Amino acid sequence: MKRKVTKAVFPVAGLGTRFLPATKSIPKEIMTLVDKPLIQYAIDEARAAGIKEFIFVTSRGKGALEDYFDHAPELESSLRKKGKKDLLSTLKNTNMESGAIAYVRQYKALGLGHAVGCAHRLIGNEPFAVILPDDVIAADTPCLQQMTEAHAETGGCMVAAMEVPPEKASAYGVLDVREDMGSMVSVNGMVEKPAKEEAPSNLAVIGRYILTPDVLKNLNKMKKGAGGEIQLTDAIAKEIQAGRDVYGYRFRGQRFDCGSKAGYLQATVAFGLARAELKDEFGSYLDEMLSMRQAAE
Ligand code: UTP
Repeated sequence: MKRKVTKAVFPVAGLGTRFLPATKSIPKEIMTLVDKPLIQYAIDEARAAGIKEFIFVTSRGKGALEDYFDHAPELESSLRKKGKKDLLSTLKNTNMESGAIAYVRQYKALGLGHAVGCAHRLIGNEPFAVILPDDVIAADTPCLQQMTEAHAETGGCMVAAMEVPPEKASAYGVLDVREDMGSMVSVNGMVEKPAKEEAPSNLAVIGRYILTPDVLKNLNKMKKGAGGEIQLTDAIAKEIQAGRDVYGYRFRGQRFDCGSKAGYLQATVAFGLARAELKDEFGSYLDEMLSMRQAAE
């Protein structure tokens, strides 16, 4: 029987330079969409997929992230006394079971692959998920849940894949497709940040993965790749070279790149409009802004 995926790694040790100066003192993952930090969206998605152990790969200056997951008994009791039941339940939904989160430190930002490799002792010999919290995905069925369901059938390694126009491919890891089976493709190879003319397909890898422990062994021996960083895609590509299965999964949902300013602002608008209590007021404001912009052109 294929082993259930119950551990997830959250690499949060990056420098977040695209959000300077904010990220001088605030971890990128604490930035909010409406009222929830990016990391909470990632945790909620992992929980929906049945993840029980949450491994954070952190670095200097990420203390606010650890504090965020502390329980807040004073706040809870004050809300309880005031009868603010909705806020109390919002707060309680963020509570994690003691011992469910583990933190490991990446001392140098040597790349995403290196960050994931830092978690190897806590993962051991079982499949695990990786979630990049700055990729936020709006979906009816949370993306990682779609993937764990598909993975229960296939095993092997699985990466979330999204179609991108050719001129954007050089910003991603791109799949070299062996067979297209619709929601899933099997993969011949992966190229990290290819030049436009060298992209093997229009399927880009985004920040959700289900990986075998063999990938951790590959990471251990990995040399620097594109951008002088230790790349996760290179370690996954090694699995294909070893004759093992790697799949791309075309998830159903909309992905926002909240590691970039434009993506973060788009997500703010989309998640704002999706909130029942905000959509009328916020929607009319956006309509007004749009007509003012059109009138000015
Ligand atoms: P990014 O490429 O978005 O890098 O990392 P970054 O440092 O977070 O942001 P910029 O580019 O400077 O603005 C993708 C993911 O990999 C993690 C990041 O925290 C993010 O979740 N990462 C990256 C690490 O944990 N360690 C690294 O050495 C690099």
